[in-house]
Amino acid sequence: MTFHPVANMLPLLQGEAFDDLVSDIKTNGQRHAILKAGNQIIDGRNRYRACQKLGIKPVFEEWDGKGSLVEISCGLNIKRRQIISISQRAAAGALAEIEFAKEAKDRQRKAGGAVPSQLPESVKGDARDFAARACGVSATYITAAKKIRLESPGLFKQIQNGETTLAKAKRSLCRQEKTRRIEAVNLPAPDPKNCQIIKGDCVGQLESLPWNSVRLIFADSPYNIGIDYAGKGPKADLKPDADFLGKAKQWIGECARVLTPDGSMFVMMNSKYTDRIGVILADAGLHRRNIIIWHEEFGTHASDNFAPCARFIHYYTKDAKSFVFNSDAARSNGASLRVKSRRQTVYKDKRADASGKVPSNVWDIPRLVDNAAERMPGFPTQIPLELVERIILFCSEPGDLVIDPFTGSGTTAVAAVTNGRRFVGFDLEEKYVKAATARVSRAIAEMNKGN
Ligand SMILES: C[S@@+](CC[C@H](N)C(=O)[O-])C[C@H]1O[C@@H](n2cnc3c(N)ncnc32)[C@H](O)[C@@H]1O
Repeated sequence: MTFHPVANMLPLLQGEAFDDLVSDIKTNGQRHAILKAGNQIIDGRNRYRACQKLGIKPVFEEWDGKGSLVEISCGLNIKRRQIISISQRAAAGALAEIEFAKEAKDRQRKAGGAVPSQLPESVKGDARDFAARACGVSATYITAAKKIRLESPGLFKQIQNGETTLAKAKRSLCRQEKTRRIEAVNLPAPDPKNCQIIKGDCVGQLESLPWNSVRLIFADSPYNIGIDYAGKGPKADLKPDADFLGKAKQWIGECARVLTPDGSMFVMMNSKYTDRIGVILADAGLHRRNIIIWHEEFGTHASDNFAPCARFIHYYTKDAKSFVFNSDAARSNGASLRVKSRRQTVYKDKRADASGKVPSNVWDIPRLVDNAAERMPGFPTQIPLELVERIILFCSEPGDLVIDPFTGSGTTAVAAVTNGRRFVGFDLEEKYVKAATARVSRAIAEMNKGN
C-alpha cells in the first residue's frame, strides 16, 4: 500500500501520540476502517502503521469514487484530530489547495477542456477557497501558509508539527527577508574618526580610554532577565545578583572616570535593579539630575500585578552644576525636540511659549514591535532611535564624543553619527558589531541621499 497525496496533508503521529493509538488498537481493535482507493490509502495512515506494528491485518473500506477526495480526506482528518491548531489546519489547507487544483484540472480534462464557467456550480470555485472551507480556516490563512511552504519548507514543517505558529513563522520569514535585503547592500564602513564599534568586554575597552575624554555616555546594559543574546541562551543573562551588580560597579566606575568634567551619563535599567544601579552611580561620584521614566506603551500584560511597561533612565552628570543641556535641542534639519505644552494644546493660552517646552521626565515612546520599519532583524532588545536621539541632542554638542558600552544593534551609534557627534561603542558579540556597523553605514548613506 502507498499513501495518496491527500492523505499526507497532516503530519504523521509521532512518539507518545502514536504509541497511544497502537495501544488503543491493541486493546479495542481497529474501530474505524482505513479508506483506500485501489492500493492507495486516502485516510488512515496512522491506523495502517499501527496495525503493521502490531502485526494485525488492517480493515479497509474502498472509496466509492463519489465527491472530492481532498474534501473527504480534509473532513475526516480535521474532525478526528480536534486538537490540531489553526496554524496546523492552515498548513494542511495549503497542501489541500494543491490537491483541489489537481482535481479541478482533472474535472476540466474529463469535461473535454471546458473552461470553469462552463462547469456545474457544484464543482466551480477557487482551490484556495475550497481548501479554506475544508480545513475550517480563512482563505488568507491558506495564502500565508502557502507563502511559507514555498519560501521556507523548514518553517512550514515546524507549523505542521505544531512546533511554531503561522504568526510566528510569518514574522520569522519577514526577518529572513529583511536580513537578505540588508546583506545585499554593500556600503563602505563609517570613517573611524566618526564611528568605531569594537568587539570586546566594555570594562576592558573603557580602561583603554583616557581620563576626562567623553562628553556623553548612554548605557543600556543587559538587565539580567534571561534574554538570549547571540544564541548564548537565557542562562547567560541570568547571573547571581552579586555578579551582575559587581560587573555594573566596574563599568560604571570606568564610565565615570572617562567622562569629561562636564560630561553626562544615562543608564537605562528595568525595575528589578534600578534602585541598586542608582546607588552604584552615586558611589561612583556622579550627581543625579533625574530619573526619566520611559513609558513603552506596548508593555507586557500581567494578571496578578501591574503590568511592567516602564524603564528607568538614570541621568547623572560628573559635575553637579556644569554640564551640557540644550533646552532648544533640534535635529540637524532644524526640527525642534521641544514638545507642545498643555497651555498650547489644551488651554490654548496665548501666553504659552510658541516654541513648546523641554519634555518632562516621562517619555511616551512606543517600543519597537517586531515588524517596525526601524527594527534590525535578529537582535532581541533594540530600543527606539527617537529615545536616544533625544538624549544626544539635549545633552551633547556637535563634534562631541559619545560612548555606548553596550552597543547592541547600534541605536546610539546611528543617533550620534547622524547628528554630527563622534561615536565609540563596544559589544561582546562579533555579529552585533558587524550588524551595527553596517546599520551606521546605511544611516549615513540615507542621510547623504537626503542632503
Ligand atoms: C540591552 S542590549 C543593548 C541594546 C541597544 N541599546 C540597542 O538599541 O540595540 C545589551 C548589549 O550588550 C552586549 N553586552 C553584554 N555584556 C557586555 C559587556 N560586558 N561588554 C560589552 N557588551 C556587552 C550584548 O551583547 C547586547 O548586545
